[in-house]
Amino acid sequence: MDLRSDFDPTLPIEAARTPPTSWYLRPEFHERELASVFGSRWHFAARVEQLTAPGAFVATEVGDQPIVVVRGEEGELRAFHNVCRHHAACVMQGAGTADALVCPYHGWTYGLDGALRTAPAMGRIDGFDRDAMGLPSAAVAAWGPFVFVSLAEQPGDLHAELAPLNSLLEASGWGDLQYYGSGIYELECNWKVYVDNYLDGGYHIAHAHKSLDAELDMADYRTECHDTWCVQLCADSGSDRLEGGAIYAWLHPNFMINRYGPIMDTNLVVPRGHDRCEVRYDYWFREVEGADAEVFIRESLAQTDRIQQEDIALCANVQRGMRSVSYDRGVYAKSETGMYQFHRLLAGDLLTAE
Ligand SMILES: [Fe+2]
Repeated sequence: MDLRSDFDPTLPIEAARTPPTSWYLRPEFHERELASVFGSRWHFAARVEQLTAPGAFVATEVGDQPIVVVRGEEGELRAFHNVCRHHAACVMQGAGTADALVCPYHGWTYGLDGALRTAPAMGRIDGFDRDAMGLPSAAVAAWGPFVFVSLAEQPGDLHAELAPLNSLLEASGWGDLQYYGSGIYELECNWKVYVDNYLDGGYHIAHAHKSLDAELDMADYRTECHDTWCVQLCADSGSDRLEGGAIYAWLHPNFMINRYGPIMDTNLVVPRGHDRCEVRYDYWFREVEGADAEVFIRESLAQTDRIQQEDIALCANVQRGMRSVSYDRGVYAKSETGMYQFHRLLAGDLLTAE
């Protein structure tokens, strides 16, 4: 597989071709992507509200790498590779609060600072340096209500990268929203099929999401690309749910922030092999208590689920079509500037890692 001949990121969009289907079908390409795309960049890892108390932790993954994010005793946020230095068991599971990070396998115990405290009944080991046996750390940064982790040695400045998006979301009143709940969808497609679908500049909405089409003023739909993220903006068409219009932000590679009306939902697209992925939703609302809020939330979640089910079917359909011997690569519609940006960033990550 020669990436340079696979995809040319230098062409104007009207002359460009999409990456070949090998990027979506081949297990060996997926492995390269895990190391390069997921081994660099900032990745959503947790919500700040999960990590307020000292000792609060969230175990998650970045690509296929187990990670744990921890709030230390003095309030510092830390991230570690969540893998015991003894026999590689994942140390923490799920989310909660703990005094120490204890491996469930043989009880090796690490402090909230990642240092190895005890390794029971090990006996004498030649050359054992306890100070070097802590959990290796990863970069961590909080932005808005989100915590991000990076496995890069020198990750970029997350706050600087996202400053214009921060202004947009501040102006939308995202600070007034409260976390309500989460959901997970399993998809029969490569994770990039879902991201591509998200970044078509609203092209599929009129065809595939009739109910959403009715809520948006599609003549107003526009995409703004920035270095490592883009935003799709659209005015509402008098809908209560989308009052004030919609902000659909995508952060390279796999995180989306959908902010509309009194609502925000986020999507984390988690690869589960070369032909499967999982989309993790977090739901936020301005009002979460009272009978009116309950009705509004139920109806809104039903609408979100309807749109998601439509996208799940589309994405599985594309993944099946990509296996066709008749198809190798496609072209971009003029609205698909966000998608072209995604593919350019992917190509850059892959080439940098070579
Ligand atoms: Fe869609």
